[in-house]
Amino acid sequence: MKLFVEPASHPLSGTIAIPGDKSIGHRALLFSLLSATPVRVLGLGDGADNGRSARAVTQLGGAIARDGAALVIRGSGLDAMRPPAAGIDCGNSGTTIRLLCGLVAGQRFATTLFGDESLSRRPMQRVIEPLAAMGAVITGSPAGEAARDVVPPLTIGPATGPLTAIDYTLPMASAQVKSAILLAGLYADGVTAVTEPGPTRDHSERMLAYLGAPLTTAGRRVAIDTRGWNRRLAGDGFEVPGDPSSAAFLIAAALLAGAREVRLPGICVNPTRTGFLDAIAAMGGSVEHAAPRDAGPEPVADLVVRGPAPGLRATEIAGDLAVRAIDELPVLAVIAARAHGTTTVRDAGELRVKESDRIATTCAMLRAFGVSCEPRPDGFVVEGRPDRPLAAARVASDGDHRIAMAAAIAGLVADGPSQIDDADNVATSYPGFAAALRQLGGAIRDAAG
Ligand code: S3P
Repeated sequence: MKLFVEPASHPLSGTIAIPGDKSIGHRALLFSLLSATPVRVLGLGDGADNGRSARAVTQLGGAIARDGAALVIRGSGLDAMRPPAAGIDCGNSGTTIRLLCGLVAGQRFATTLFGDESLSRRPMQRVIEPLAAMGAVITGSPAGEAARDVVPPLTIGPATGPLTAIDYTLPMASAQVKSAILLAGLYADGVTAVTEPGPTRDHSERMLAYLGAPLTTAGRRVAIDTRGWNRRLAGDGFEVPGDPSSAAFLIAAALLAGAREVRLPGICVNPTRTGFLDAIAAMGGSVEHAAPRDAGPEPVADLVVRGPAPGLRATEIAGDLAVRAIDELPVLAVIAARAHGTTTVRDAGELRVKESDRIATTCAMLRAFGVSCEPRPDGFVVEGRPDRPLAAARVASDGDHRIAMAAAIAGLVADGPSQIDDADNVATSYPGFAAALRQLGGAIRDAAG
């Protein structure tokens, strides 16, 4: 699929229902498998990645039925998961494969996990190492002669007894690895603890606690203590709020093109996910938070952008802020391309091991639009070009949904029509992206090929 984008000729306007948060959706599905009671999930997104987790749940013995707007998931409980008849295809989804590693590490059967070409290049040693320290048996494939890492396919288990509790300090800020260890900790005797170097998304902590897991958090340390626990998780349901990472593209569009009013109701504003909004505020962009409320364990708000494109200024994104904005850094780079001055992103080496090497692909994409973007080992440096439009471009996304969508936003402020090739991957997180941008008044269309 290709995306064709024209420069925006007027301010954007409208209300868009952003699909359910991808990270929360994965967890709603996978954690419901562990529930002793049926769980109603409202607002699950329609992205292919969440679909992979849904299929994994059914392969492991869960049943998923539609009931009006909700999905009802009948899980197996903690100890009656079924051995999958075949390997589980995790597609493009790093969260599916890494969370599943933790979920099946303590099972008495073996599970094979594999994925698409991009997932088959992604590092798994980070999850294998702590799970192996807990006694899990995991084998993967060597990542290539020079690399010391391990990539999918992975085979996990069978476990011969309870796992061993560990006290683990994560070498990198990764919510997926943290979550895998916590899930395995449900199958360990004693206190399994994870300390993280930065504030990664804490949906697993919130949602497992909501289901009654024996979980406590103290600063950067999360612990599961199974001593004396009745091994029962249960809950009525989850409401999956709008995905701030998908909303980020439309917010960027509204800020760069100007907006009469762009309103995105019910977006997750969990502080571990709002680095993007904080970076925008530091750049002089304004996003109003209206109607704040709670959706189960997650805080949500309506996000509203109004007014002409502001005069944005460059900023520095580093440390905890880089962790809290990690998935939004490609689109923040596009915003930086329209800001006065030089924006620096540091402490974001994790970008190298996302769906693509996002330091390389973000810089290549911006350069195609005539913007100077210098890669650094742990980030990049963008020279803003606020005084004249970007140069219209034809770009490839390198199979990465967030690069494709960021490029489409750049196309809105270019000096002519732009084309994004190889954009099928948008469906992994936000199949309705082009339609939503069109609904706001953006001239974007998709075409096969
Ligand atoms: C995710 C965690 C992050 C993020 C990814 C989703 C999650 O990855 O980039 O898109 O749902 O836990 P890491 O855990 O690799 O940091």
